[in-house]
Amino acid sequence: MKKILVTGGTGYIGSHTVVEAQQAGYEVVIVDNLCNSQVGVIERIQQITGIRPAFEQVDCTDMAAMEEVFKKHPQIGAVIHFAAFKAVGESVQKPLQYYHNNLRSLWVLLTLLPKYEVGNLVFSSSCTVYGQPDHLPVTEQTPRKPAESPYGNTKQICEDIITDAVRAGIPVQGILLRYFNPIGSHPSAKIGELPIGTPQNLVPFVTQTAAGIRPQLRIFGNDYNTPDGSCIRDYINVVDLAKAHIVAVDRMLKKQCKKPVEVFNLGTGKGVSVLEIVRTFERATGVKLPYEIVERRAGDIEQIWADTTFANTELGWQAHETLEDTLSSAWKWQQTLQ
Ligand code: UD1
Repeated sequence: MKKILVTGGTGYIGSHTVVEAQQAGYEVVIVDNLCNSQVGVIERIQQITGIRPAFEQVDCTDMAAMEEVFKKHPQIGAVIHFAAFKAVGESVQKPLQYYHNNLRSLWVLLTLLPKYEVGNLVFSSSCTVYGQPDHLPVTEQTPRKPAESPYGNTKQICEDIITDAVRAGIPVQGILLRYFNPIGSHPSAKIGELPIGTPQNLVPFVTQTAAGIRPQLRIFGNDYNTPDGSCIRDYINVVDLAKAHIVAVDRMLKKQCKKPVEVFNLGTGKGVSVLEIVRTFERATGVKLPYEIVERRAGDIEQIWADTTFANTELGWQAHETLEDTLSSAWKWQQTLQ
């Protein structure tokens, strides 16, 4: 049995990845401090897969506690490192917490991996590292722009830490996965995104508005230089995204990586505007979505979408789910929360 450790495995992308990993035959150990997730997710994962993942409630920045995890669970083949703070706006308010949590957890892992002979690390990066690119779509070679937020900066710095450590010869290979905008839920509607308080991201806000929890969606700007004036993103189904992690781990364990650190864009390759999200949601669910156009949101980039050629050809992975089905899955999940 192949064993992997998933930090942040009770979180949004993490929980979907644990499901895919178990279904692909991996034994999973989750490490999570539950600071932004619920322990009940473990039970939900078990309901989907029939297998209860091992769970350690540990903070990834705690070196001694993490060391105990590696001692207790020997022979881990790879680590997928999701655990991190991820709210752009909050990172501007609390930069020190973001730098401490996101950088130290990676530092702890890179210190312990060689000691416990774990040679493979998959890291959750983000398209935020590109900023507003000069040319679209973005390839993995598109130059990174100076980060717009402490959150974005932690992703850039973490990419650099992994690259520098591997270059310096630590016996670890890395795969950096740059996610575009993950949305939707598992088709079982047993796991999904669980925003605490008012959602900052578009799709949770859309589903809460459709459910009547919020009076209306606020669309941040319709005067951008895009066909309908609203911002454009590359929205990727979270299950499709989760599957890419399993392909990445398989690739590492089969020693198929062509470089010590590989980078992949994970998106659909299609740019979709905020107004298109609204219309597609209404069409897919039959629910009318009240919205108003308000001022641009500070820090938003105008448009970005991925060139996914490298992931498609090199990983043999691509996003399959339609936007309609993905938004329907988000709505189905929202309805279970009421
Ligand atoms: C941001 C980050 C991304 C991070 C993600 C998760 C950047 C460039 N991207 O994505 O790296 O992983 O947050 O926190 O920093 N919108 C509305 N109304 C709303 C909410 C959003 O119109 O109520 C619009 C936004 O203006 C944007 C789009 O919807 O155009 C998507 O926003 P959001 O879901 O917050 O994600 P990003 O900002 O793209």
